[in-house]
Amino acid sequence: MVKVDVKGCQGFAGSEKYNEYLKKALAAYDTLVRGDGAGNDFLGWKHLPTETPENLIADCEAVRDLWKAKGVDLVISIGIGGSYLGARCVIEALSHSFSKQLRHKDAPEVVFAGNNLSEEYLAELLDLAAERNVASVVISKSGTTTEPAVAFRLVKQFIEDTYGKKEAAERIVAITDEHKGALKTLSTQEGYRTFIVPDDVGGRFSVLTPVGILPIVLAGFDVRAILRGAAEEEKALAAKSEANPAVEYAAMRNLLYSELGKRVEIMVSYNPKLQYFAEWWKQLYGESEGKDGKGIFPASVTNTADLHSMGQFIQEGERVMFETVIAVENATREVTIGTDAENLDGLNFLAGKRVEDCGKMATLGTKLAHIDGGVPQMEVSVDKLDAANLGALLYFFEFACGVSAYTLGVNPFNQPGVEAYKKNMFALLEKPGYEEATAAIKKRLQ
Ligand code: PA5
Repeated sequence: MVKVDVKGCQGFAGSEKYNEYLKKALAAYDTLVRGDGAGNDFLGWKHLPTETPENLIADCEAVRDLWKAKGVDLVISIGIGGSYLGARCVIEALSHSFSKQLRHKDAPEVVFAGNNLSEEYLAELLDLAAERNVASVVISKSGTTTEPAVAFRLVKQFIEDTYGKKEAAERIVAITDEHKGALKTLSTQEGYRTFIVPDDVGGRFSVLTPVGILPIVLAGFDVRAILRGAAEEEKALAAKSEANPAVEYAAMRNLLYSELGKRVEIMVSYNPKLQYFAEWWKQLYGESEGKDGKGIFPASVTNTADLHSMGQFIQEGERVMFETVIAVENATREVTIGTDAENLDGLNFLAGKRVEDCGKMATLGTKLAHIDGGVPQMEVSVDKLDAANLGALLYFFEFACGVSAYTLGVNPFNQPGVEAYKKNMFALLEKPGYEEATAAIKKRLQ
């Protein structure tokens, strides 16, 4: 379902080098499939599309139905990183662009919190909550992450104050580790319904676990279709070959990085609905590959808007980047440009054409211009932007990430660097147990 086209890189890479990197990527593919590489205790995501049990979806639907019966119209989904971006990317990609303004009432609005420490954001979240019928999903695999814990403390208090403690237990669902962590302890004590993040699935690979599935179901989207598309992709990628799209993608991006000094990969989309897909992808690749002094820096643009901001740099600035375009071949809506008798805007040459025709020519024109400007172009394409194709894209990029990181020679499944800021933050906030670090950091700041 997902196709990869590397032709826009070939003039830069050369076929001999590409063949060499295809071989490296195939070896990495074998490592991932055999499951004997670094971080191999975090490979539980590989078969989620084909092995997710129906009763998990049914349990999520039971929460949806209970909250619907209570008239819930606002779900606050609390989480950060992998406990946030997957659900948001799917919900944004499948939602009507103006769903908030149209205010369709068939599903509650899902909003996100716990992904920042902005006092204004949280105060304004509580302003919104005060006007709505609220429930909350709190998601943290470790159960100890500060940002979601702070947001949850506020939201829990709000729900308890508004609906009473007993009712709060029916309006709060936790998704966390099966046995450990503060969130697990709290959920058991408060009697919250809980869903489990499997031990062998890391945060950024967890979109097809309850971490993504529950918020997606609550937002009213067809998670079975997402899993169906992902399962088709799982089967497609099971064929070992140099034409395997994950192998092609991993081979070319590693070649561009290691041989041609292309240090930045820009994910390009032409549909604003894919903005959070790029955010999800940036976390997936940034956290999986950026370590040991290596890694391609993942960036993103949404065209054509960003052609009028980042376009100049991409065309003529520092030559350190390549682009991966997410190409959606067919729009799901049709809008045709009309004729104007006076033609004052000079656009009658477009009359009768679809907006999509203009978009495709903008995409092609940009691709050619950027190749001329020294920016290699890859294309990852799907037929249309629907639940099944989105599922396929999610699985494709997860699998390709494993192949690519092994090709690069790093462990795709750890993120030791994330701890550094936390240690400083806790020391600065004088968390018990951090006394030594607090003294050291204060000295450093003198
Ligand atoms: O990919 C990861 O593992 C991380 O980005 C985590 O998802 C993120 O740090 C949040 O962790 P947790 O779910 O434990 O709160």
